[in-house]
Amino acid sequence: MGHNNDLILRAAEIIRRGGIVAFPTETVYGLGADAFNPLAVARVFEAKKRPYFDPLIVHVAHPVDMKKLVKEIPLNAQKLTERFWPGPLTVVLLKEEDIPDIVTAGLPTLAIRMPNHPMALSLIRESNSPIAAPSANLFGYVSPTTAEHVQEQLGDQVDLILDGGPCPVGVESTIVSFLEGKPKLLRPGGVSLEEIESIIGKVEISRNKEGTPSAPGMLPSHYAPRTPIVLDWDDQSLVIDKEKNVGLLAFREPRDHLKFRHIEVLSKKGDLREAATNLFAAIRRLDRWNLDFILAETIPEIGLGRAIMDRLRRASIKGEIN
Ligand code: TXA
Ligand code: MG
Repeated sequence: MGHNNDLILRAAEIIRRGGIVAFPTETVYGLGADAFNPLAVARVFEAKKRPYFDPLIVHVAHPVDMKKLVKEIPLNAQKLTERFWPGPLTVVLLKEEDIPDIVTAGLPTLAIRMPNHPMALSLIRESNSPIAAPSANLFGYVSPTTAEHVQEQLGDQVDLILDGGPCPVGVESTIVSFLEGKPKLLRPGGVSLEEIESIIGKVEISRNKEGTPSAPGMLPSHYAPRTPIVLDWDDQSLVIDKEKNVGLLAFREPRDHLKFRHIEVLSKKGDLREAATNLFAAIRRLDRWNLDFILAETIPEIGLGRAIMDRLRRASIKGEIN
């Protein structure tokens, strides 16, 4: 831990001086900057090639740190953060004036979470400031769940990468907004809708015109690898051209291995948590095979299955932006 500790102190110093650092959280790796330094935050947008209309999540090291960032904390938001922080839950609340506009893309609201990862928490504490951080991938691509994933895409752009090994949850945080009193699910994620509703009752699902839950920067085509992902296919009638190189993203161990050039199994025993942990790394591995396309299996939309299917839908729809 001594070695790690020195690295964290160095990383915190970089953040305090306006640099950018990639760091592990329990969900995915983030690319962080001091949330109160607009120039540093601008470097995060540049490194990711992220459009400025897509606001960032601000990460805090303690629940009380949220108080200074927002106007008020509604009771239901309080209940959820008490139950799920530190953890894969982000709340969207009305922001305090002093939060730089670049962080919130000019919105009057701020997304906040307290991650459940010792390295992330130490980094935030030692930086003496909340850390604004999106996922540490190029905009539109799959989120990174290892330090190597970050290195591949953003190695040249960041001042330091903290390596905490593979992320234990593997999909991003669940985002719930609390404007006009009513809780709304903006993005399914590491805390399931069922768990949230067991604490605060029915939560409305905010949807865009494609029917997918919508945070402002979340495009229908997102989390997309280079290789097309096909989601709606029928095993019975599937005939694959012998000339084609096809990959399979399977939920459980598949029956038929012959048709596929490469297969990734998310969870042999069909466990949703294990599947979520493996999802993004499996997509990245498939993407390296130069396949013509990837067939992805449908996953039951309960618990973490909702977040997994959300990411697969966005990875499979071919929109304008990638
Ligand atoms: O698990 C996570 O949430 C990871 C780790 C690093 O914490 N972060 C992450 O950040 O996934 P990012 O930037 O890839 O996704 C953040 C999402 C975006 O879709 C953005 O539009 C939404 O949060 N968001 C940020 N601020 C918002 C706001 N004020 N209102 C609504 N949505 C917001
Ligand atoms: Mg992202």
